[in-house]
Amino acid sequence: MAHTLNLVVLFSGKGSNLETLIERFHHKKIGEREVRVFAVTNRPNAGGIARARHYGIEPIVLDHTLFASREEFDEMLADTVASLRPDLVVMAGFMRILTPRFTERIEAINLHPSLLPLFRGTRAIEKSFKSGMKVGGVTVHRVTAELDSGEILDQACVKIEPIDTIESFTEKIHRVEHTLLPDVVERLLSSL
Ligand code: GRF
Repeated sequence: MAHTLNLVVLFSGKGSNLETLIERFHHKKIGEREVRVFAVTNRPNAGGIARARHYGIEPIVLDHTLFASREEFDEMLADTVASLRPDLVVMAGFMRILTPRFTERIEAINLHPSLLPLFRGTRAIEKSFKSGMKVGGVTVHRVTAELDSGEILDQACVKIEPIDTIESFTEKIHRVEHTLLPDVVERLLSSL
């Protein structure tokens, strides 16, 4: 029987990747099933909140600064995500290190702006730009308790040209993110 596919997107910042997912999937059909996007953020001032509202989606805000510990926040985050009955959970610029309290309950995928396993963690774009390598890139991988280390689902390369600046390279990375992530999401949703 056809039912809705619930796509839960976690974000912390500008939300440009959230927006590409909303545009591509919200109220669109994958086979017989209509996708519904839900948005969750840990930052009450995240730019992505306004973007989501523009599409009629009211993000759930769980301000991590109001929790006594990382574990308590992760517990509440897992409860919140589970309550949305997700078919797929996507971290799109969700800037939190997650504990097993979350990762053992919720299966999720993450977008990371480098060619993992290189340049895990924060400031990956800058680190790869300064590495001396001639390519950087983008990875979508499964989330585990170990930071940026789960199974790689897909990757795309971005050339680092001599004329590139950190700004132009960052733009190229974002452009690639905006197609790679939705492509992986479509593949996963179609396989459900
Ligand atoms: C992306 O570059 C993502 O890879 C990184 O944070 C950025 C989020 O951008 N982890 P946005 O909020 O989706 O615009």
